[in-house]
Amino acid sequence: MNHSIRMEKLSYSIGGRTILQDFDLTVAKGVNRTILGVSGSGKTTILKLLLGLLSPDSGNVFIGDKCITGLHEAEYRDIRKCIAIVFQGGALFDSMTVGENVGYRLFEEGELPQGEIEDIVREKLGFVGIEGSIDLYPAELSGGMKKRVAIARALAANPDYIFFDEPTTGLDPIGVYNICNLMQRLQKEGKTTLMVTHDLATAFATSDRLTFLHRSRMIFDGTEEEIKASGVREIREFLAPTTESLFV
Ligand SMILES: Nc1ncnc2c1ncn2[C@@H]1O[C@H](COP(=O)(O)OP(=O)(O)O)[C@@H](O)[C@H]1O
Ligand SMILES: [Mg+2]
Repeated sequence: MNHSIRMEKLSYSIGGRTILQDFDLTVAKGVNRTILGVSGSGKTTILKLLLGLLSPDSGNVFIGDKCITGLHEAEYRDIRKCIAIVFQGGALFDSMTVGENVGYRLFEEGELPQGEIEDIVREKLGFVGIEGSIDLYPAELSGGMKKRVAIARALAANPDYIFFDEPTTGLDPIGVYNICNLMQRLQKEGKTTLMVTHDLATAFATSDRLTFLHRSRMIFDGTEEEIKASGVREIREFLAPTTESLFV
């Protein structure tokens, strides 16, 4: 059994614009990776393609040994169970409490008794440090707390892989620290993380490997030391913008 998630020669365009061109990416189990790129470069699109929420124009996505490209929702739902995603903004249901949000997927699946689901919900909320907020509604939470609820919800189904879309964007320094710390703890517990972000500090704190997306292509794949030493102009500009970057 092959325990990786893979994109092979993936191309995707929308509205006449090429977002990805012949894009290869392997998310190997145990390797915590971040995809960096400027806003609008296609980072969220990559996650949606990996989850099968979007279909590529060409190329394939593999989860383990199974190719999910072209499968119907019902067919890949089981295959996808090993993955959870923390969407940018959290994507919580406003009309449900924190506890209901976290338990939502388990209640929907209907495979576990209610008491067991409630135990899981409490445990996951404890893990992210907000068990006291179980009966609150999303509107009553700060941005950082919403992200933590979204992480707890992702954890409820006990996935092997957790995808994070800009998990620290818009948070204050303590919020950023909390999320980085949670990601590191998840990694220690054996979860594999894949994050997309433009936040370098978060990327360096939580990643074994970095991928840089520029103009539909991967132009870098390597470690923190390697990216810092890169002589590629686009990467240098991203790491340390200068007046030359004005209005680019
Ligand atoms: N439904 C859509 N229609 C047209 N363009 C879209 C649509 N969704 C995304 N895009 C464009 O695709 C590009 C990549 O989007 P996205 O993956 O969200 O970028 P990122 O997450 O890196 O900011 C952006 O330029 C965006 O404007
Ligand atoms: Mg995005």
